[in-house]
Amino acid sequence: MPTIVFASSKGGAGKTTAAIVLASELAQGTSVTLIDADPNQHSAKWAQKEGCPSNIILIEKSTEETIIEDIDVAQEKTAFVLVDLEGTASMAVASAISRADLVITLCQGSQDDADEAVKTIKLVNRQAKVLNRGIPYVVLMTRTNPAITPRTLKHIINEFRSAGVEILETSLIDREAFRAIRSFGGTIHDLDSSQVSGVEKAVANAHALAVEVIQKLKNIKNEKELNYA
Ligand SMILES: Nc1ncnc2c1ncn2[C@@H]1O[C@H](COP(=O)(O)OP(=O)(O)O)[C@@H](O)[C@H]1O
Ligand SMILES: [Mg+2]
Repeated sequence: MPTIVFASSKGGAGKTTAAIVLASELAQGTSVTLIDADPNQHSAKWAQKEGCPSNIILIEKSTEETIIEDIDVAQEKTAFVLVDLEGTASMAVASAISRADLVITLCQGSQDDADEAVKTIKLVNRQAKVLNRGIPYVVLMTRTNPAITPRTLKHIINEFRSAGVEILETSLIDREAFRAIRSFGGTIHDLDSSQVSGVEKAVANAHALAVEVIQKLKNIKNEKELNYA
C-alpha cells in the first residue's frame, strides 16, 4: 500500500514530527507501518512510549541493508507505510526514495531550509532517472507561525511555485502540542488541553494534513492509471 517517505538533507527539519503526526492521523482509521531508518531512532522512541495507537506497527532500526525489504514487507501488511529518515543523503535515503509513492520534503521558513529542500528534490529526481519512473514529491512547510506569514516565507513559497515545485496547502504550524507528544508519547488527541495550549488547533491542523496527503495519493494513483491507459 502507499509508501510515504519523509526526506530532507538536514537534521531538525521536522521529518520525525510530521511522520508521527501523519501516522497518528492515518491510524485513526486504518493500519500504518512506521519505519524508522534514522540511526537516532527518534520516531521509534515515540512509538515505543505508552499511548502509541495499536494499529501503528513500528519497524525500528531499519538500515541501508534492510530498508527495501522492510518497505516491501510492510506494503503487503498495512494500508500505509511511512518512512522516517536521517537528515543526510545516504544509501538508505536513496533506497527509501526509490520505493516511495510520495516523498514529503520539509521546509521551515528560512532560505537555508529552502536550499536543503531543493537538494532533496534533486536527489528524488536523480533516483527517478535511475529507476526510469516518476517519483512524486511535495514540500511540506513546517513550524509555520499561525498568526503571520513573514516576507521570507512568502518569498520562499513563491520561488518554489515558480520553479514548478508543489507545496502542500496545509503547513504544519509550530505548536506546543506537536512537541508535547514527543515527550509524553501518544497522539495529539490524547493531550490534556488544560495543560497543553492549542490542542484543538493542532488536531485540526493534523487532520487537514492527512486529508490533503490522502487526496494527493489518490491523484497520483489516478494519473498513473491514465498514463497506463
Ligand atoms: N510543527 C512543529 N511544532 C512545534 N515543534 C516542532 C514542529 N516540527 C518540529 N518541531 C520541533 O523541531 C525539532 C526538530 O524536529 P524533528 O521533527 O525532530 O526534525 P527531524 O526529524 O527532521 O530531525 C524538534 O524539537 C521538534 O519538537
Ligand atoms: Mg528525525
